[in-house]
Amino acid sequence: MTGFAVRPITDEERRPTFTLLRQALHSPPPDDEFWRQHGDAWVADHKFGAFAGDRPIGITGSFDTDLVVPGGARLSTAAVDGVAVRADWTRRGVVSELMRVQLQDFAARGHALAALYPSEAAIYGRFGYGAATLGRTIRVEHPARLRPGVPATGTVRLLDETTAAAQLPALYQQCATTRPGRLGRPAAWWPIERNRQIRYGAGYRVAVHTGHNGEDDGFVVFRSRERATLDQPDRRAALDVRDLIGAGPAAVTGLWRFLLSIDLTGTVLARDRPVDEPVGALLTDPRRAHTDAVTDQLWLRLVDVPAALAARTYGAAEPVVLALTDRQLPANTGRYLIGPGGAHRTQAPAELDLDAEALGQLYLGEWRASTLWQAGRLTAADPSAAARADALFTTERPPWCGTHF
Ligand SMILES: CC(C)(COP(=O)(O)OP(=O)(O)OC[C@H]1O[C@@H](n2cnc3c(N)ncnc32)[C@H](O)[C@@H]1OP(=O)(O)O)[C@@H](O)C(=O)NCCC(=O)NCCS
Repeated sequence: MTGFAVRPITDEERRPTFTLLRQALHSPPPDDEFWRQHGDAWVADHKFGAFAGDRPIGITGSFDTDLVVPGGARLSTAAVDGVAVRADWTRRGVVSELMRVQLQDFAARGHALAALYPSEAAIYGRFGYGAATLGRTIRVEHPARLRPGVPATGTVRLLDETTAAAQLPALYQQCATTRPGRLGRPAAWWPIERNRQIRYGAGYRVAVHTGHNGEDDGFVVFRSRERATLDQPDRRAALDVRDLIGAGPAAVTGLWRFLLSIDLTGTVLARDRPVDEPVGALLTDPRRAHTDAVTDQLWLRLVDVPAALAARTYGAAEPVVLALTDRQLPANTGRYLIGPGGAHRTQAPAELDLDAEALGQLYLGEWRASTLWQAGRLTAADPSAAARADALFTTERPPWCGTHF
């Protein structure tokens, strides 16, 4: 007897469950004004609640989107967000049951993948999610000057709030790339992101980059944070970069050029940037660009393992046979032959044994199988199997998502 039941929430249960989420995240409950303005973004669709009687004690949600996998295919993906359990019900299996029901729903609805950004890294591995991308926190300290040889890439213009809200969704789509990890942003994502920006302090501005061909090809969302205090009247602000997207390297360089050119700036801080973004290389003094952190970002869970493994491409190496154990979705359990030509189920003897979390970690190419093997996260009778998996799974560029949810 658990004392609770999990089921989809109704429209009437939207505000109580949103209140539950806010309180679990140590934020005030939504007042009437907030709910009037932003409540519509908290839809009942695809949300499961845990209820003790008729009172919500846990919640999880998701929205449907797609994700680019190595090779460029876009796979149907459930993006999980809004997970919380009421403080007086934690550690009693509530989130475990929510995750179980939610994963079965994803499988029934035909999703190949599920993804999330966890608040803590110790929670979701047990449900088969693995840390699939890394992000770098970059801090540039002024004075920072661009090297004379950095190419001029186009122009940048600031948008007013209404124009930005109208134009960014289409511009994001125009900036589509085949980089693994890139997530589609459905219409529902934008108001949720806007609510988040309001919650963490208004004042975000948007600048758009236009390439030499006259096409808009990138944008940045950023805000200025005053650093001056009464005792330290430093007028130079800090710029916080929330979102920086370019269709290609020229647009990204142009947007960094713009950020670094803004007067009265002391610091530019950008979180979750691709680990290979060459910000230091743009500067006359590369040490002005500091890496404050490199941390896990998007966590990935293969929901339909045969489909997901078959949809990505692989590097050149002799094939390897993986033996997967999937505790939550046992239909995935089995052996898979992975080779340069693709992946399929096999009866051949297993060479690498792993669980769903390790597979989620390997899938986009960020992690090497031999690193996970060294850490005891997968087992191999013959270490050469891990080396072959390295060559098969690792991608040319590290994956990157950049879309928070
Ligand atoms: C994190 C949270 C969702 C976990 O829910 P819960 O109902 O307490 O989790 P469960 O009881 O189902 O625990 C499942 C397992 O995860 C472990 N676990 C739960 N929360 C954990 C945490 N914060 N850190 C490490 N392990 C955790 C439990 O010990 C348990 O381990 P076991 O399987 O070995 O027994 C809940 O504590 C919560 O809502 N916290 C505040 C909001 C939050 O952090 N939300 C997550 C947003 S991504």
